[in-house]
Amino acid sequence: MERGIVFGHRDLDKFLKEHAEGGKVSVLSGMMPSGRMHLGHKTVVDQLVWYQREMGLKVYIPIADLEAHHARGMPLEEAHRIAVEEYVLNYAALGLDLSPDRCEIYLQSERKPVQRMALLLAGRVTWNTLKGTYGFTGETNMGHAMAPLVQAADILHPQELEGPHRVLVPVGVDQDPHLRLTRDLAEKEGLVKPASTYHRFMTGLTGGKMSSSKPSTAIFLTDDPEEAKRKVWRAKTGGGATVEEHREKGGNPDECVVYELFVYHLADKVGGEKGLREIRERCESGDLICGECKKMAQEALAELLEEIAERRERAKDEIPSVLEEHPDAPDAPEDW
Ligand code: TRP
Ligand code: SF4
Repeated sequence: MERGIVFGHRDLDKFLKEHAEGGKVSVLSGMMPSGRMHLGHKTVVDQLVWYQREMGLKVYIPIADLEAHHARGMPLEEAHRIAVEEYVLNYAALGLDLSPDRCEIYLQSERKPVQRMALLLAGRVTWNTLKGTYGFTGETNMGHAMAPLVQAADILHPQELEGPHRVLVPVGVDQDPHLRLTRDLAEKEGLVKPASTYHRFMTGLTGGKMSSSKPSTAIFLTDDPEEAKRKVWRAKTGGGATVEEHREKGGNPDECVVYELFVYHLADKVGGEKGLREIRERCESGDLICGECKKMAQEALAELLEEIAERRERAKDEIPSVLEEHPDAPDAPEDW
């Protein structure tokens, strides 16, 4: 928030107040297992880790394999494999405590109460609403059309399991339509409206969108550090056209992907807010040139990726069981 990455919210004030007064609250955010996890995905996990560690909250993580299947054409088995090998492993490596009382991860395709809730919520939404909100057409397949209802069911699931309470959903700003739909549905169901926060997305390394399908635009959490360094070296900067021009006029960190890397992911490695300010000032004055700056980013990033890889190795043994639905997995109460 301090760095402007998380820039907006709905009802965060209510969520904080209820928590401060000793009321029950929890936090939830899902992800589509559609490919390799990159730094863009890390932003939301960092937030979940913070709420779990600093506020002691229980974290819910729906893995949206049904959505990946219907909206992206991903085979379910493949989505399942990616969920375990990429996502859950990296969640653990990024610091999430996966023990069952602190974190609940599930696959949409396996969690029966969520599926049932989605089918029930379907009765509360008209096709015109879905068309208007998501641009669905007559060609949209019904699995894809159901995805917002499954997501709404995800977001309401903690209330179903633990009784009515405020659930905070940290997401990228593109997810707001889902939150608005879910808030309407919560009201109709007599549940508490979810709160949400919205974060910005880091620019892709080449200046456009960061995308799993274009490896040069993204740094993947499983990238070899040397490969990641090469990507940083080729990244788009806000520097002058020549070193002379840069020295004279200074650079523009607000147009620079390398600076964004520091802000989003490497601040801890360069001395926090103070370090960031220093980079900005030195860049703007022309004292810091892009080559030197990129080298600093390369070293910090390589260190981060090595740490994550090491923690991934350590987490490997505990992961496979996290996603198993046990026979006594939570079910909705009888009177739901
Ligand atoms: N739709 C989200 C995405 O595109 C994934 C998702 C599924 C989700 N269920 C959710 C996000 C619940 C937040 C809350 O990645
Ligand atoms: Fe970006 Fe650093 Fe160059 Fe400034 S000096 S434009 S922050 S790479």
